[in-house]
Amino acid sequence: MKDERPMDEWIKKLTEDSLEKRKLDRRKFLAGAGKIAGLSLGLTIAQSIGAFEVNAAPRFRNYPFTLGVASGDPLSDSVVLWTRLAPDPQNGGGMPNQAVPVKWEIANDENFTKVIQHGTELAQPNLAHSVHVEVEGLKPNKVYYYRFRSGNENSPIGKTKTLPEKGAEVSSMTFAFASCQQYEHGYYTAFQHMAEEELDLVIHLGDYIYEYGPNEYVSPSGNVRAHSGPEIITLEDYRNRYAQYRSDTNLKAAHAAFPWVVTWDDHEVENNYANMIPEKGQSVEAFVKRRAAAYQAYYEHMPLRRSSLPHGADMLLYRDFTYGNLAAFNVMDTRQYRDDQANGDGSKPPSEESMDPNRTLTGQEQEDWLISNLGNSKTHWNILAQQVFFAQRNYGTSTAPRFSMDAWDGYTASRQRITDFVQSKNLNNIIVLTGDVHASWACDLKADYDDPASKVIGAEFVGTSITSGGNGADKRADTDKIMGLNPHIKFFNDYRGYVRCTVTPEEWRTDYRVLPFVTSPGADISTRASFVYQKDQTGLKQAGSNVVPAGVKISAEVEEDRNLAHGKAHEKQMKKNLINIGQ
Ligand SMILES: [Fe+2]
Repeated sequence: MKDERPMDEWIKKLTEDSLEKRKLDRRKFLAGAGKIAGLSLGLTIAQSIGAFEVNAAPRFRNYPFTLGVASGDPLSDSVVLWTRLAPDPQNGGGMPNQAVPVKWEIANDENFTKVIQHGTELAQPNLAHSVHVEVEGLKPNKVYYYRFRSGNENSPIGKTKTLPEKGAEVSSMTFAFASCQQYEHGYYTAFQHMAEEELDLVIHLGDYIYEYGPNEYVSPSGNVRAHSGPEIITLEDYRNRYAQYRSDTNLKAAHAAFPWVVTWDDHEVENNYANMIPEKGQSVEAFVKRRAAAYQAYYEHMPLRRSSLPHGADMLLYRDFTYGNLAAFNVMDTRQYRDDQANGDGSKPPSEESMDPNRTLTGQEQEDWLISNLGNSKTHWNILAQQVFFAQRNYGTSTAPRFSMDAWDGYTASRQRITDFVQSKNLNNIIVLTGDVHASWACDLKADYDDPASKVIGAEFVGTSITSGGNGADKRADTDKIMGLNPHIKFFNDYRGYVRCTVTPEEWRTDYRVLPFVTSPGADISTRASFVYQKDQTGLKQAGSNVVPAGVKISAEVEEDRNLAHGKAHEKQMKKNLINIGQ
């Protein structure tokens, strides 16, 4: 279907619409900027679009849709369609400093014989020529196909799906979740297999990119690809890094196949940052600028709504999605508002500082939002889609416990407030989804982890990484010790992959989909184990277990090795910085 309006008329209207949006965003931006006194954080976002020249009929020397297409943040009547014009993706994009119109269409069928809506957006240089189309007026629980066109070039075709209407009877849904895709550590075979699944949705829990320079963060099985530039700091650095990751065919295929709901962890900015506090070796002022650049590039490359448009170094990413009467997804951000890690971060015994009742991992507003959602929810399941390990996890000894200060174990008061609320309302349908730790785990959530008789209040499924950590193994040297110390933990596996969940009103089923290797392409995927959770407070039950035919059976690795690898990477960064200063 063609847009019949004369070219200059629709460009004028688009520019006016954008200006109108921009005015609103400018006001919001000014309000947000006040929080960080004395710093100019607008970057390019707050600048006027009126200054841009519009190139109505671009002629591309090179294919502009190199980063593919994506869709996300589905509602029952709406979805975001995403693409970015980037003929030279890893060198700033290769676009002129002009706004360029991009036409989009959405259809009932993949041949586009029944286009039901179409329109045009301006891809603007201040957002790296990305477009985020918020299509409205769609039917609930329905598959759609979409594509873009600019100049004479057509994008690949994407497939997406709306959510069922809030409260509608839903008998079942299937989704996958994933995290941690260090590009250098392996191939995205997991995404190749994910794209072939039948899924209603994909949830990404963060570490979509890693910030390191080439070979700074090395996996135990050796790096097999290399980051294309040094440690990323500036907006252009972050854009080029996203472009490198998103150029991967398998990642593009998974984005094109399903709507994604994304949230970030730390590496979208920097390892283990907390709110405005950098890892080490940077001034807070420099880090705030870095965070603003990182957040902007994240927005530019993800299928997010305008409500997530960054304002300086702030960006609203926590949000919720209701899937009929079946499930409510609370998608969380445990990085942007957290208190600094206690006890100097790392693996530490609990202390007065880590157990300080005033500590927060979520910030007050997000905690209030979560508690209110849990209290008001009428769905069969309530999900916390978030980043870091929620259940207690002692990986020291019984007499000298050690916990990750970056996870909820370092913010015990935050966890307790949520746990207490769940208990006070007698909720038995809480499911926590977690990334971050590059291994698969399954845990009963308990009111008190130190009391074996304490009630089960839900389940946590921790997904392994797509690649981070390299090939991994079926078991690690410390697996038996950790399982013995933490009887509420029911499963551990250290292969790469993703997690598939099938949800019905009565039962939650989780399949751990794993690969025996990622350092070369072509591994088969299989379900290493399946667990079911029912709302009878008897906890997780294993529903199946399979042997992965290839792959390392047991490795010499232990939990702390992950922190050490990041520490070594940081040392390399610091050495390079010293050399740079010396020059
Ligand atoms: Fe990670």
